[in-house]
Amino acid sequence: MHAKTNVTAAGQPGRVLVIGSINTDFVARTRRLPQAGETVLSHAFETVPGGKGANQAIAAARMGARVAMIGCAGRDAFGAQRVRELAAEGIDCAGIEVSETHPTGIAMITVSEAGENSIVVASGSNAALSPASVLAQTDRFRACDVVVCQLETPPDTVHAALATARRLGKITVLNPGPATQPLPLHWMPLIDYLVPNESEASILADGLPNAEDAALALHRAGARHVIVTLGARGVYVIGDAVEGAHHPALPVRAVDTTAAGDTFVGVLAAQLAAGCTLDAAMAHAQIAASVCVQHHGAQPSIPRRDALPISASVR
Ligand code: ATP
Ligand code: RIB
Repeated sequence: MHAKTNVTAAGQPGRVLVIGSINTDFVARTRRLPQAGETVLSHAFETVPGGKGANQAIAAARMGARVAMIGCAGRDAFGAQRVRELAAEGIDCAGIEVSETHPTGIAMITVSEAGENSIVVASGSNAALSPASVLAQTDRFRACDVVVCQLETPPDTVHAALATARRLGKITVLNPGPATQPLPLHWMPLIDYLVPNESEASILADGLPNAEDAALALHRAGARHVIVTLGARGVYVIGDAVEGAHHPALPVRAVDTTAAGDTFVGVLAAQLAAGCTLDAAMAHAQIAASVCVQHHGAQPSIPRRDALPISASVR
């Protein structure tokens, strides 16, 4: 990979296809997160573009990848605005459907002064993205290097995307968020890079509390590589020809971790698509995520490649 331009040896940018959610985030900042049954006052409220799929597509595009997205927005002002913003990032949005029956997805997010968040997602149109819609877009899969999915669209749709990508020999990345139960076993061999956060890893691994144990179990179940993101503690990775290893995060002061995981996943995908090694791709992804957590909001906090404090050691 050419360090500054993020292009493949053939001089082309890596090509990433994201199948995923598009949300509008309603973000209230509070001194601390409310407990069950409690009302707290917010000192700042913002409406921000988000959604795990859209965030990851933007993270990859801002890294210099050529990105296309398959998703479903509602026929409403939020949907139109979200798609315009994605297109303004240079993302090919022709694969984004418009639902006549479902409103665009929203997320209600509370962010505390300590930078923690809690999120409730109302899926809306994201729940209307069908396997048939994905299967009708095989050409988009053919035209990419890396396919990225999350779990904010229906499971059958995610499975159709992973299976199509596998059939066409593409690199697959699954960010299994939000996780509610273990993944079906037959999904595991379809996944080249499974990237859960710590709590998702535990849920997927049937409640194993330790990230290293969970990663090993998920790798043994068939995922080729498992990268567990550990917030301020970095990541733990294990995989084919990769001994279990911990890679620390950059020491920064986090004000809002929303989309840190999405930034990590999108940048990882962009770097893998450009032919980067896994170690270099993870290093870039962690640097980008460390920039993200120092800013508020989902998409506004995702950095562009030229804003990364990249040292010679990861070029
Ligand atoms: P979110 O759901 O809020 O988008 P996540 O839970 O999916 O995030 P995390 O594990 O919190 O993901 O963070 C992803 C990556 O972001 C981490 O592996 C790390 O590289 C970076 N990161 C997160 N929090 C911090 C922090 N406080 N300081 C430095 N880097 C951080
Ligand atoms: O990962 C962060 C995202 O999760 C937010 O942007 C929100 O929309 C939810 O999907």
